[in-house]
Amino acid sequence: MNTATAETTAPVSPPAAGSEAAPDSASASDPVLPASASVSGSVPVPAPGPLAAPAASAVPEAPVRVTVVVGSDREGRFGPVVADWLLERIAERDDFAVEVVDVAAASLPTALSHDPSPSVAAALAKVSPALDAADAFVVLTPEYNHSFPAGLKNLIDRHFTEWRAKPVALVSYGGISGGLRAAEHLRQVFAELHAVTVRDTVSFHGAAGAFDPGGRPRDPAGPSAAATAMLDQLAWWARALREAKERRPYAG
Ligand SMILES: Cc1cc2nc3c(=O)[nH]c(=O)nc-3n(C[C@H](O)[C@H](O)[C@H](O)COP(=O)(O)O)c2cc1C
Repeated sequence: MNTATAETTAPVSPPAAGSEAAPDSASASDPVLPASASVSGSVPVPAPGPLAAPAASAVPEAPVRVTVVVGSDREGRFGPVVADWLLERIAERDDFAVEVVDVAAASLPTALSHDPSPSVAAALAKVSPALDAADAFVVLTPEYNHSFPAGLKNLIDRHFTEWRAKPVALVSYGGISGGLRAAEHLRQVFAELHAVTVRDTVSFHGAAGAFDPGGRPRDPAGPSAAATAMLDQLAWWARALREAKERRPYAG
């Protein structure tokens, strides 16, 4: 499968572990960060006029509720740089209302239980509603040893209906591979959860070197175009599935 990649090769020193240079939108203790990231808001309704369209078509479509999952929880991680860049791309559009779930702030133990302790239940209560309410997801993943991080898998495994019959877009980054193997592994996982991954992705190889110290891609045209294609597909799938589910329950 072809993948719309945003690969750049500009060499640069990666930010030091834990560097403040990397804008860290995910450092807050709350794992769900709606306010600063939200692009929700009123969509302008065209004023009626002599040539106004029939009322039904003048009703604006509700924005797609997208939850961005930041999949890295490594100390000194680079992930927030990629996340902030992506959130800017989403904020440029008027078709998404965004929330962020950060695996690093979720504090979920890896030992699963059907009867979670009060502390685990409290931790889940901070993230599960943002997954449940989403029409669509963008999952950001680095690549660790040819796959995605354990913390991300833990968050995924702790939810089921929250993913079901929803589209997932994948943004990956890493060393030489750009996280592409991690992204392809995630396609298999999300298929098991009845989620659909969209075709196009955004991928940064040599990620730390692909961004300048201000967190901007050194060669932004490719990544921006890839993000546009990916987000267009995500919005299409989200609306298509939302409408389909309004007509009949998902069969799975
Ligand atoms: C344990 C570990 C394993 C890694 N394995 C790979 C790999 O298999 N392929 C790759 O391209 N990059 C690999 N990398 C590089 C990371 O993908 C890269 O450093 C990325 O920025 C990590 O994301 P993070 O900083 O948000 O955790 C690895 C890094 C770590 C820490």
